[in-house]
Amino acid sequence: MKQANVLLDKGAVISEIDKRIYGSFIEHMGRAVYGGIYEPDHEGADEQGFRKDVISLVSQLQVPIIRYPGGNMLSAYNWEDGVGPKHERPRKLELAWRVIETNQVGTNEFADFAGKVGSEVMMAVNLGTRGIDAARNLVEYCNHPGGSYWSDLRRTHGYERPHQIKTWCLGNEMDGHWQIGQKTAEEYGRLAAETGKAMKQVDPSIELVSCGSSGSGMPTFPEWEAVTLDHTYGIADYVSLHQYFGNRDNDSQNYLASTMELEHFIHTVISVCDYLKAKKRSKKTMMLSFDEWNVWYHSNEQDQKLEPWQTAPPQLEDRYNMEDALLVGGILITFLRHADRIKMACLAQLVNVIAPIVTENGGGSWKQTIYYPYMHASVFGRGVSLQVIVSSPKFDTKDFTDVPYTDTAVVWNEGKEEVTIFALNRHLEEDVLMTFSMKDFPGYEVNEHLVLEHDDLKAANSMREERVKPHNNGQWSFQRTELEVKVNKASWNVIRLKRSV
Ligand code: AHR
Repeated sequence: MKQANVLLDKGAVISEIDKRIYGSFIEHMGRAVYGGIYEPDHEGADEQGFRKDVISLVSQLQVPIIRYPGGNMLSAYNWEDGVGPKHERPRKLELAWRVIETNQVGTNEFADFAGKVGSEVMMAVNLGTRGIDAARNLVEYCNHPGGSYWSDLRRTHGYERPHQIKTWCLGNEMDGHWQIGQKTAEEYGRLAAETGKAMKQVDPSIELVSCGSSGSGMPTFPEWEAVTLDHTYGIADYVSLHQYFGNRDNDSQNYLASTMELEHFIHTVISVCDYLKAKKRSKKTMMLSFDEWNVWYHSNEQDQKLEPWQTAPPQLEDRYNMEDALLVGGILITFLRHADRIKMACLAQLVNVIAPIVTENGGGSWKQTIYYPYMHASVFGRGVSLQVIVSSPKFDTKDFTDVPYTDTAVVWNEGKEEVTIFALNRHLEEDVLMTFSMKDFPGYEVNEHLVLEHDDLKAANSMREERVKPHNNGQWSFQRTELEVKVNKASWNVIRLKRSV
């Protein structure tokens, strides 16, 4: 069996983990909102029309923040359409996804939903067709207590108390040719800086996310970041990153190595941010908001066949399998290793649309394979992220060289006296015996070793059958200060230790 060694030092802290790295995203598209979180005719809907089964599944994930309302739809969205009496709200053509938007859910209802699942809202403002005025009005509507036009309008809509939304995205993917009102970096940078300035004048306590490239594959990456941050560095607190993955060539070993590319992307964005910091002689360090990430490719072909101008059609309904869950685990480990710079991240999305949770209209709901690594990281990955020194055997794939068999992150929760090891074996044929030196954690014992694995990498879950789910029969032995853990080929492992004496 291959061997890997991991050195742990409780003094080598990367950073306190910002719980918002376990955020998610709900866009007005497909069945994310209508038929996903909201289905007033469903027998399990609450008094506001939200599905109680979905509230329960989301709550189990302990999602700290949810980005809303888009996404591509944001670039032509008028937030005023989604507030006030429901029967007066317009039905509109939504141009990004070519559907009918009924506006039956809007800012206030979504804030209520977020409260029900214990999340904060990460609100996004339209910088495609709109700009400073609509954005500052929305901040006033959401966050000002009262005594002004927009805050009093909120009160007449039944929301006496402000929503106090802290985090705001300045547009979405504004470099993309698919956006209504696509901008050059100069155009976006100026608009975002001036919009952010006005928004912070309304509420100085808010935090702003400057829009980064739509992905590392964009021809303008990373020049977009360099030019836009030159304008927004003073007003923004974060820059956004988006990345989606897919096993398009059906080369699973190569696919599971693609977090190497993610590492490179993160390093590049940090470098650009730090260049701007130096250029501006700034004391501020720009943080990263990885506010869209996931696997997205299974549904691409199916989506081409959809008729336009439907309400809530099944768009982007990827069905995830075992290997997708492994990749999602690898992405979360990567974020934990960058906990000093990545302060927010959003699994895109949460329900039905490229999501861990799937619903049937009028029926039940179920967990996709990716639900599990996401839940494990969110629930057990709170504390500080520790620097680990790993020696792991390596392999090469079509696109990557020197890929470590194992990928590891370690979280220490000093208050709860818990250590959680997240370990991925991304090799498809060989098991690895991992040895962790635990000398800094005397008195700690293994509580459980959760494993997600399946003989068939293409195994997926459905409403009828949950083929991929974790078991807690992982193999380990702990002698003195050495913890040995067997991480099976193609498996996601969570080893939870707790101090017993
Ligand atoms: O999450 C799906 C889409 O991916 C979002 O609308 C957009 O921001 C990104 O391109």
